[in-house]
Amino acid sequence: MQEFEETVSEDIFEEENGEMNDETVDSPSAEASVGTDTEVVLGRGLDVGTANLVSSVQDVDGNVGIKIQRNAFIDIDCDDYTKSMLTRLNVQYVVLDGKMVVVGDPAFELANIFNRATRRPMKDGMISPNESDAMPIEKMLLRTLLGDPQVDGEICYFTVPAEPIDAEMNVIYHQGVFAGLLKSLGYTAKPLVEGHSVVFSELAEDDFTGIGISCGGGMFNICVAYKSIPALSFSTTRGGDWIDRNVANVLGISTSRATSIKEKIGNLQTPQNREEEAVEIYYRNLISYTLENIKKRFESSQGMPAFPDPISIVCAGGTSMIPGFIDIFRDEFENVKFPIEVAEIRMAEDPLYSVSKGCLVAALSES
Ligand SMILES: Nc1ncnc2c1ncn2[C@@H]1O[C@H](COP(=O)(O)OP(=O)(O)OP(=O)(O)O)[C@@H](O)[C@H]1O
Ligand SMILES: [Mg+2]
Repeated sequence: MQEFEETVSEDIFEEENGEMNDETVDSPSAEASVGTDTEVVLGRGLDVGTANLVSSVQDVDGNVGIKIQRNAFIDIDCDDYTKSMLTRLNVQYVVLDGKMVVVGDPAFELANIFNRATRRPMKDGMISPNESDAMPIEKMLLRTLLGDPQVDGEICYFTVPAEPIDAEMNVIYHQGVFAGLLKSLGYTAKPLVEGHSVVFSELAEDDFTGIGISCGGGMFNICVAYKSIPALSFSTTRGGDWIDRNVANVLGISTSRATSIKEKIGNLQTPQNREEEAVEIYYRNLISYTLENIKKRFESSQGMPAFPDPISIVCAGGTSMIPGFIDIFRDEFENVKFPIEVAEIRMAEDPLYSVSKGCLVAALSES
């Protein structure tokens, strides 16, 4: 209990009034954080992810400010006992439709206490069909991250997945709902395909030519770009969650346990036990599946550009953050007869924020 008290984030909500204050979830590890008094330039980036929502702004000196929040919440029946417990634990909440709602990281802590799962508004990269009534909460989360626009109709680029190749979902509804939420907050919402966003944030020195891959929780998003124009964009519904589900299945453990094992691995190349070996097996499979699909799509699509020089592949997203990821990626790359000459395979500078920063680049170039 003590540990919990120390780790909850503070002041996420204004208690009980259905509104959150927006001065909280500053990322602890953002490269350069923008203070609340700093003047920021027009244009926002927003990464709408299955696991995390990440917003970005830039101040007049060029520093980028990032805010991140888990895209999850828990709702608890409203009774006096729970109310006083949350107050004692210093967990902020809102009351919505007679339920007490806690969002973000504290929701995970509470889920453990109550032995329940958190609710997740998105699944496999898009609005979850089971959670469509969670959109008012999603709107509150977006307000926490973005605050009010500085001018009416300030541009906010937000990510959408590319069409998935292995699922019957389309992105139209998902894109429309998030555009609507942002509009209702006063922004002009502009969609950007997630892989393209990685190209914007990571491939400037390569003249925006190369392959950006966002390795997310729900999906992998891939974009092959030539001089900033996407030549090929697609997504797969295999990501970190897919690894967790499979590891959980083969080991007979819960998915949250599998996630925890995965996120604590010291090095994916040197698994220490049967559990870690299972994680490595699924990581390898996921990477080779991604590379094979890039190859297949590239070879079967019309009008692919001829790349005059060898290109770079850049990996971003939480799923790429496991130590050893890029070495395993290079390993698996050797097994694929790749159709484009590749000079370098590297990690994004800041894997968890890269997608949001790409949206910011797009927004700044237009604002
Ligand atoms: N250190 C780590 N090692 C391994 N996996 C990690 C680590 N940190 C985070 N992850 C995984 O990263 C995933 C979340 O990544 P990310 O925030 O990029 O996803 P997202 O953008 O929310 O999802 P998507 O783009 O698929 O909608 C989760 O599956 C999480 O388990
Ligand atoms: Mg993502």
